[in-house]
Amino acid sequence: MTEKLFTVDPLVIECEHAKTVVSSPRLSARLKVAPEVLTTLLEARAGSDLDPDDPRVAHLKRTGFLRGDGAEAPQTPRPWDTWGVAAWNYHQRIRDTRFIEHTHEEERSERYLEEVLSRPLPVAPRTEGAEVLLLPRTRSRTAEDFWEVLERRRTCRRFEDAPVDLQHLADILHYSFAPLRFVDAGQMGVLQLRAAASGGARHETDAYVAVFNVADVAPGLYRYDEIRHGLAPVRDEVTRDQMEHLTFHQGFYERAAFGVFTVAMTERFVWKYRHPVAYKLLHHNVGHVAQVFSTVCAAFRLGAAITGAIRNSEADALLGLAGPAEFVTFALACGHPVIAPDGLPGGVQAPIDPWRA
Ligand SMILES: Cc1cc2nc3c(=O)[nH]c(=O)nc-3n(C[C@H](O)[C@H](O)[C@H](O)COP(=O)(O)O)c2cc1C
Repeated sequence: MTEKLFTVDPLVIECEHAKTVVSSPRLSARLKVAPEVLTTLLEARAGSDLDPDDPRVAHLKRTGFLRGDGAEAPQTPRPWDTWGVAAWNYHQRIRDTRFIEHTHEEERSERYLEEVLSRPLPVAPRTEGAEVLLLPRTRSRTAEDFWEVLERRRTCRRFEDAPVDLQHLADILHYSFAPLRFVDAGQMGVLQLRAAASGGARHETDAYVAVFNVADVAPGLYRYDEIRHGLAPVRDEVTRDQMEHLTFHQGFYERAAFGVFTVAMTERFVWKYRHPVAYKLLHHNVGHVAQVFSTVCAAFRLGAAITGAIRNSEADALLGLAGPAEFVTFALACGHPVIAPDGLPGGVQAPIDPWRA
């Protein structure tokens, strides 16, 4: 006797090396399957007459991968019902990543180090060849109180049409993207230490700067060279319209003095971090960088905006990034902020006193 059975939807199939694994956000099981079982699951997406006594079919039924017509499928839990199967699968795959417990796993730790060091150290910054506009190395001190800076830091989305000083541009780039010190990490080489924390001190975040209105800097697109503390030209022209297009017309670049694309140079990171969790870690890293950027801007009474809403492929192409190993992560903007009399950035509304109305 056969029964009409349907495959769970969505079904995630991962084929890697000789292994095929199926899973679904609706189910707790992940199954390693043989090719003919995968064929059965694919065919039953629109319903198949199958023998429920076949041990393989019975197993797929028990684990929820196949169900009868009338049987109610478990719901995809929140937030994955909204965020979708790609996010769910990534989340599952990086959960419970086994990191090395340095105190208990010396042998594993040694093997890990050996394995990392078997690969050539990635060349950290790309300095070779390019002309560079050297930026001032003096630093503008600010008498701002630390706590006031923390309280003042806001996302500013509207800017005055006014130039930012070269000194401020230099300082913002220096504190956000340049090494402040170096550390000898033994066999791991010499590492940069920047103002922001970074997994393994790999500091894979680079900055590409779109200059519009900075005193003494010609408008254009530059790569910030953090070792030479200079701007290497990438393109003579980058327009405000282009930046607006790339960031879904949010208005930041209509008057910002300059913009920054943060770029993940993954070769620096993947050298040490070989697990998929690294993709999440590098986004944590750039979050730290963006916070430093925005806080330093606040210390100079400048405003900063931030967005992850980016037309990624077009932005990568504009910057001339070297293939899939380099990609844009954030778009930042900086300028003289429009500030309302209540101290909030222009366009931001404080809660209205309900008793006043
Ligand atoms: C990851 C991230 C993405 C953001 N994306 C946007 C964005 O696309 N547009 C925007 O106007 N603000 C964006 N922001 C800024 C937030 O809206 C802002 O931080 C939030 O409203 C709180 O305001 P505050 O930064 O002034 O404290 C983003 C912030 C972060 C951290």
